[in-house]
Amino acid sequence: MARFARFDRFGGTEVLYIAELDPPHPGPGQLRVRVRANGLNPADYKIFHDAEHAKNYGAVPPTGVGFDFAGEVDEVGEGVTRYTVGDAVIGGKRNEAIGDFVIVDEDGVLTPKPQRLDWPTAGALPVAGRTAIAAVDRVGVGPGDTLLVSAAAGGVGVIACQLAVLRGATVVGTASERNHDFLRSLGVIPVAYGDGLVERLRDAAPGGYTAALDNHGPESVDAALELGVPLERINTIAARGHRGAQGIGNPQATDEQFAEVVRLVAEGRVVVPIEAVYPLERIREAYDRLEGGHVRGKLVVVPE
Ligand SMILES: NC(=O)c1ccc[n+]([C@@H]2O[C@H](COP(=O)([O-])OP(=O)(O)OC[C@H]3O[C@@H](n4cnc5c(N)ncnc54)[C@H](OP(=O)(O)O)[C@@H]3O)[C@@H](O)[C@H]2O)c1
Repeated sequence: MARFARFDRFGGTEVLYIAELDPPHPGPGQLRVRVRANGLNPADYKIFHDAEHAKNYGAVPPTGVGFDFAGEVDEVGEGVTRYTVGDAVIGGKRNEAIGDFVIVDEDGVLTPKPQRLDWPTAGALPVAGRTAIAAVDRVGVGPGDTLLVSAAAGGVGVIACQLAVLRGATVVGTASERNHDFLRSLGVIPVAYGDGLVERLRDAAPGGYTAALDNHGPESVDAALELGVPLERINTIAARGHRGAQGIGNPQATDEQFAEVVRLVAEGRVVVPIEAVYPLERIREAYDRLEGGHVRGKLVVVPE
């Protein structure tokens, strides 16, 4: 038997349970991956909390949980050409990722895992890495830019900040005080969020801002507009439509962008802090912590 995280009705983390089911097998064009690590993302809990949100992701309970996974291919279906048994991979499968096995299409969200990348870090990359690089590329960050990044120490923010630094931008990131030294160590100028944000942002970059990546909500879009950032150079993943701001993220990322972010992390040029690794059985606790809203980097579940 194999274990899978599932939920049968909407609610808080109490609706999550571990089901024991027959291991699935891949169909034509599919692979079975023996999962070694799953990154957790806010979208996962938004789906099991809320029917409206779930509808946007095609999630109808009873169903599985999560998107991110890393593991080893242990069965391949008919016609698969790019992967073989034993390959280490990183990928995404909406509402089916968390558990001992995941079935994924060969041409789905999937990329080889570089050997240097440990399992928890690899498993943490799909949503956060894909979203970060899609957002950075959309606003076209480069030398001469001063970029505002909100929730800079969170899963998406911490990767986006480092990509922008690598592309030559000056990066100012909002975070709680406890993350300020950490952000400085990445070459990011930290600023506390909350009342007085715009003033502090002005002080941090007196020359002004040319672009912004919002990872938290309307207040950072408001701040960016007040600081003179043109609407088309704001990418929001947390306040789409607010004052006309738009954004792209995980669904729009390309295979090439995914591979690039994986390579940069494997090379140590982008750091992804893993705040904690939980065994699968403690998945409720892991999501409770994520929902607390102050994780540095990522939380990961492992089916040990
Ligand atoms: N559309 C997409 O493709 C897509 C993809 C990924 C994520 N998202 C959405 O984007 C958001 C961020 O995702 P994530 O994975 O980065 O989440 P996360 O890792 O849970 O983000 C946590 C971060 O939020 C920061 N934060 C908390 N309160 C804040 C505030 N008032 N102002 C600014 N920052 C604050 C925290 O900073 P401190 O710890 O420093 O307090 C923490 O670092 C979520 O809403 C998620 O659903 C969308």
